[in-house]
Amino acid sequence: MKIDLYEKIWMIGTGCMLTLFFSVIAYEAVAMGRMPPSHIETIDPKTVLSDARFNPQGVRVGPDGAVNVHVVGLMFVWLPGELTLPAGTPVTFHITSVDVTHGYEIVRTNAQSMVIPGYVSQFTTTFDPGEYLVVCNEYCGNGHHTMFGKLHVVPADQWQAPAVTGGTPVVPTDTTGGAHDH
Ligand code: CUA
Repeated sequence: MKIDLYEKIWMIGTGCMLTLFFSVIAYEAVAMGRMPPSHIETIDPKTVLSDARFNPQGVRVGPDGAVNVHVVGLMFVWLPGELTLPAGTPVTFHITSVDVTHGYEIVRTNAQSMVIPGYVSQFTTTFDPGEYLVVCNEYCGNGHHTMFGKLHVVPADQWQAPAVTGGTPVVPTDTTGGAHDH
C-alpha cells in the first residue's frame, strides 16, 4: 500500500499527539493523584443549616481519630471561613451549598471540588504546615470574588482537636438585601 508523504506526516503527528495526551492524563492520575469525584451523597439545600451533617459546621474528630471538616457555602461566604487543621493527617472535607453552585478550591494544592446545592461533595487530603487560601472558583454572583476562606495548618502535635458539642449553628446574615418578615 502506498501512502502519500503528507498523509504519513499527519498520521505520525496525530499518533504522537495522542500518545502525549494519554501520557499526561496517566501521569496526573498516578503521580499527582488527580481523579474525578466518585462520592454521591444528597441533602436538602433548604435544611442544610439544621442537618446534623452541617450543624455544627467546622472540624469534627471521629471516635477513630479521623479528622472531618464540614463546610457550607453560600453567597458569598464559606462557613466556617477559617479552620485550624493538623499537618500530615488525612482530612476529609464534606461541603455543600444552600443556594447556587460554588467551587471550594484550596489554592496551591490539588484539593478542590464543585459545591452543588443538593449534594455533599467529599474529598480527603493531607497538608504540610502553613497558611492556605481558599477561594470560590465557580462564578456564583456579584460577590463571587469576595468569597474566600483560610486554613491554618499546624504541626499535628500542636493541634488541639475542637470539643465536639451541640454547637450553635451559624445563621447567615442576609447579604441579598431581600425583604424581612416583621
Ligand atoms: Cu461562590 Cu463563586
